[in-house]
Amino acid sequence: MEGEREAVGVVGVGWVGLVTATCFAELGHPIVALDVNAEKVESLRRGEITIHEPGLAELLTANSERITFTTSMDEVLAATRLLFCCVDTPPTYSGDADLSRVRSVVAQLPEGSEHALVMKSTVPSGTGASIRRDKPDLRYVSCPEFLKEGSAIQDFMHPDRVVVGADAGSEDSADAVESLYEPLGGEIVRTDVASAEMIKLASNAFLATKISFINEIANVCEQTGADVTEVARGMGLDERIGASFLQAGIGYGGSCFPKDVSALKQLAGNSGYHFQLLNAVIEVNELQKRRVIAKLEKHLGSLADKRIALLGLAFKPDTDDMREASSLVLSARLQGEGAEVVAYDPVASGSAGSMLPEVEMASSASAALERADAAVLVTEWPEFAELDWASVRESMASPILIDGRNYLDGVELRAAGFVYDGIGRPDPPDGT
Ligand code: UDX
Repeated sequence: MEGEREAVGVVGVGWVGLVTATCFAELGHPIVALDVNAEKVESLRRGEITIHEPGLAELLTANSERITFTTSMDEVLAATRLLFCCVDTPPTYSGDADLSRVRSVVAQLPEGSEHALVMKSTVPSGTGASIRRDKPDLRYVSCPEFLKEGSAIQDFMHPDRVVVGADAGSEDSADAVESLYEPLGGEIVRTDVASAEMIKLASNAFLATKISFINEIANVCEQTGADVTEVARGMGLDERIGASFLQAGIGYGGSCFPKDVSALKQLAGNSGYHFQLLNAVIEVNELQKRRVIAKLEKHLGSLADKRIALLGLAFKPDTDDMREASSLVLSARLQGEGAEVVAYDPVASGSAGSMLPEVEMASSASAALERADAAVLVTEWPEFAELDWASVRESMASPILIDGRNYLDGVELRAAGFVYDGIGRPDPPDGT
């Protein structure tokens, strides 16, 4: 329909849903976006968002006239045929994904209608098949999400690929999804539902494997005197390996990698296959967070009553997301050793407060470093690279700096009088 496009439905306006709704609106589509949380819908109507995602608030404001926020499924069904399901699927204690919110959306879709459910929520392989077993006439398309927090708009507008999975009876809906994404230019991978679901889990598990692999290489580098950043550079230039996701550090976190790796492991286990490699990926990641403790002990001896400053709390920069952040485990371990923990994060200090009740929140990086016996760089926020380290050194009780992301310039910091220790990087020959 020229000039009068049919609206796109978005169900669940969390981070994925809001980015999806806003970006489709930016592409010119009218959007009807539903959330069960009436308070959230009210504040979105006023243009207020609580998610920290660069550029999202501005893009939402620019497209506010095209987006209708609602709590009414009837309103969505009346205006749209494609409903992008973006509700969350948090991990359960067993490691399986909790699909209750997805099931509640499915339950509200009328049988035998023109509507199609386009699954963006991360679901285990087999979910599409099981939904269609219960509702055989439901049109169902799997369109997994590959957005990264902090660069979600850029990722949405310039996708490497768009995966569109559909089985017999849902081809027309899959064609409609394809045409929504066509203007973005990424390669469209058209496949069946089960393969689309597996592409998502396998992609995240592979990236997590790459990180745990380079972290283990870093640990070996510490034994052999090699520098993991040099090793990663040399490896990454091989096109078959690629340079991305080879940054050694204190482990991966966030809402996706830990959940998806564990969901894939669980899925394999439930189908009778023991996914040995993923067990190692998870274990390496858990241990990696704790290696910082050994490094601090190497420099300070016992950590009891030592004041340790954590620079950065979010699981990565450009987000306030604390889910599975390495800082959570690290601060708990430090407190377990009797240390006093002070922390600063440019945006996550507020959201982190309730998760880290015993941690003192500082108002700036320099305030966190005052009187500290050591500092640990946990999240590579650019402002930490710009800090006047030479002057903050004076305010520290001892100038020990563990760079958990290999982010800072070790040569410069050592010249400024710091004891600098990265991950998988050798001490200089003079032992400073
Ligand atoms: C990830 C996937 O990249 C994305 O495709 C998917 O849709 C959701 O999960 P995200 O969780 O936003 O995205 O963050 P990402 O940038 O992938 O980083 C994940 C974690 O790995 C972070 O804790 C990051 O610090 C860590 N990481 C990443 C490393 O430790 N080393 C690296 O080389 C890269």
